[in-house]
Amino acid sequence: MYVLGIETSCDETAVAIYHAEKGLISHVLYSQADTHSEYGGVVPEIASRDHIRKLVPLIKQTLSDSQLSPSDINGIAYTAGPGLMGALLVGAATARSLAWAWQIPAIAVHHMEGHLLAPMLEADPPPFPFVALLISGGHSLLIEVTGIGQYRLLGESLDDAAGEAFDKTAKMLGLGYPGGPRLAELAEKGHARFKFPRPMTDRPGLEFSFSGLKTFTLNTLQNSDKTEQDKADIALAFQQAMAETLSIKCKRALQQTGLKTLVIAGGVSANKSIRQHLIEMTEALGAKAYFPRHEFCTDNGAMIAYAGCQRLLAGQTQNLEIFARPRWPIDELLSID
Ligand code: KG4
Ligand code: ZN
Repeated sequence: MYVLGIETSCDETAVAIYHAEKGLISHVLYSQADTHSEYGGVVPEIASRDHIRKLVPLIKQTLSDSQLSPSDINGIAYTAGPGLMGALLVGAATARSLAWAWQIPAIAVHHMEGHLLAPMLEADPPPFPFVALLISGGHSLLIEVTGIGQYRLLGESLDDAAGEAFDKTAKMLGLGYPGGPRLAELAEKGHARFKFPRPMTDRPGLEFSFSGLKTFTLNTLQNSDKTEQDKADIALAFQQAMAETLSIKCKRALQQTGLKTLVIAGGVSANKSIRQHLIEMTEALGAKAYFPRHEFCTDNGAMIAYAGCQRLLAGQTQNLEIFARPRWPIDELLSID
């Protein structure tokens, strides 16, 4: 079964083809980051219009890269939420219409389930059950995962998502958009000079809160001379605080559930320092951490094609409605057995 995957939930237009037995066949991505950077963040209307321009050419490119024709495709998976409504609708309408024209099933995929399953595309996929830490621009979730669609929410962010905190802090430091990777780059030049708080680690629970850390960062910056070195030192302290906070919460989640496998996915999981902290923490616990390859940490079509393929194989399909849901709790998903 060949599944075409379409991702348009935010500022990446991404398409992939995944085969149930052969694995990932091809994937392409167009990032709108440069378009949005002059505004300091994603402008939803520009994002939607750009998806319209890029999606069909990318679908054609994926098919030709794979040396496949539309008649070879057995199903279409598309991100139906959560995300920006206009952006989601471009993917949903295109996917649903193509599926209708090609007389094949379509399946609506939850974007965060896509992230969660992205490490399954690797040669050494994580075994169920596991704890998943999903850290993206819009969400920070800790989930106990027993199987596909079997998700128990253990904790989430009470305010900013981890990626959002990176982006806002980067903006304060004058780094532009998207901030996460730029802040990480600047942190490499930093000296360990400041110690930032590890929010909500002094009390039990698996919730996150990053807005206080952001304010602490702003105060530290305002009280400094704002030299390049000051900024690098602040970036390092912020990143260290994020990495340690995430690591403390993941350790707690592993201990509470008794599980020995941790999956980390979503854009922020591309961060080297965070990866390193989580690898060291799991090793010390006798557990193992799994990540997607770097390019599949951030938004991509491969994870959507994979997640959709699993659901189509289980017999799930979408009716003819063009379904998009900007807010969509992950624990509402149907389980596949
Ligand atoms: O998963 P993703 O591509 O999109 C959403 O679903 O939101 O995540 C994007 C987020 C952005 O906030 C971006 O700044 C952050 O992931 N990010 C990073 C890094 N690479 C991407 N944050 C920290 N370090 C990175 N290396
Ligand atoms: Zn994402």
